[in-house]
Amino acid sequence: MYNFDFMSDEHKMIQEAARDFAQREIVPVAEHFDHTGEFPLANVRKMGELGFMGIEVPEEYGGAEMDTLAYTLVMEEISKADASHGTIVSVNNSLYGKGLLIFGTHEQKKEWLEPIANGENIGAYSLTEPMSGSDSGNMASRAVLNSSGTHYIINGRKSWVTSAPYADRIVVFCMTEPEKKHKGVTAFLIDTKEPGFSRGKTEPKLGIRASATSEIIFDNYECPVDRVLGKPGEGFKIAMTILDAGRVGIAGQALGIADAALTASIAYAQEREAFGQKIGQFQMIQQKLADMKCRVEASRLLTYQAAVEADIAKKTGQRITLAASMAKLFASETAMWVTTEAIQIHGGMGYSKEMPLERYFRDAKITQIYEGTSEIQRMVIARQLTGLR
Ligand code: CAA
Repeated sequence: MYNFDFMSDEHKMIQEAARDFAQREIVPVAEHFDHTGEFPLANVRKMGELGFMGIEVPEEYGGAEMDTLAYTLVMEEISKADASHGTIVSVNNSLYGKGLLIFGTHEQKKEWLEPIANGENIGAYSLTEPMSGSDSGNMASRAVLNSSGTHYIINGRKSWVTSAPYADRIVVFCMTEPEKKHKGVTAFLIDTKEPGFSRGKTEPKLGIRASATSEIIFDNYECPVDRVLGKPGEGFKIAMTILDAGRVGIAGQALGIADAALTASIAYAQEREAFGQKIGQFQMIQQKLADMKCRVEASRLLTYQAAVEADIAKKTGQRITLAASMAKLFASETAMWVTTEAIQIHGGMGYSKEMPLERYFRDAKITQIYEGTSEIQRMVIARQLTGLR
């Protein structure tokens, strides 16, 4: 629709490749995976082969060496087909990969990024705990340096860890110096095959049912000191920096869901007849379609803008907090609203599991919740505007 002159030929190529894969390989199986709640492992491996699991990771570490805009375009196209696949792509790329890319040493990137970037392994990110969600600095899990100074001993329970049931590696945030609050959080690189790590209950979810989410438990897990990501005490800032990047991806996911619901609604309005005419000829349907389109395109502009800012920030080092939160807030609210209206346009068919509209609606809801609720995004935006806390 627009001539986005910031999109290079490479961007258009990866967008096309993602669209082609999503429509050919994901659309036909999306309903099955939503219904069964199975994890789409075969498709995850294929996405790894196509470079979608480590889009911004340099080739040196097994990735596609593209930029945040490319990642966002892939998120949009994959999520148009199925938001669960989008979630898995997002966690690998941003929540796991981004932290290593920005804060990892060369050795850490070599060992911890490469198998994830090519899709052989799956990565996850764990910040939330049963008693700390939005208030993420208030965590109870503890990591204590052993007497010889070689290992941190980690104990605690983390919750709502996306991809955890299948994750090989996880970036985990724990308190090392509780008296320092935010400045006492440290980020660790965890291998899920090691002793002291286990998984708790898997969450039965309303939407994104094919993405797997569970608790993880640490019982005297020994993490060598060279597996601290960044420096001890830097964990909260690392967690927030990663979330800024992650929120751009979730905006792309929400945009994809909303666009899919709008596309289906336009087609239905052109075909379905009532009272002797196409329902698209009724002003009330026209109003819905027009408003849906405006909000989808406004989401697209905010989302692509945030992605472009993220790419500029790689050189300038500036934070993308405002752009990321605006894109995530607006796109996720749009996804929820557009999918609601899409069901209304489809009437009973929208409510039926015979069509994907009700899946879009259930999947859209999580985009207003994870990686920071809409309420948290509004708080972040207002703080960025006023400088007040
Ligand atoms: N980038 C870098 N640093 C940041 C930052 C950012 N975006 N945001 C805050 N910081 C820094 C601040 O500058 C401050 O540093 P100083 O002490 O040096 O000044 C420090 O972090 C503390 O900041 P605040 O005082 O603002 O912290 P706060 O306690 O008020 O919390 C918050 C801020 C925005 C509410 C934050 O806690 C937040 O984003 N909460 C939501 C958490 C979230 O999104 N959780 C979802 C987790 S992932 C998930 O959903 C599961 C999954 O697997 C997908």
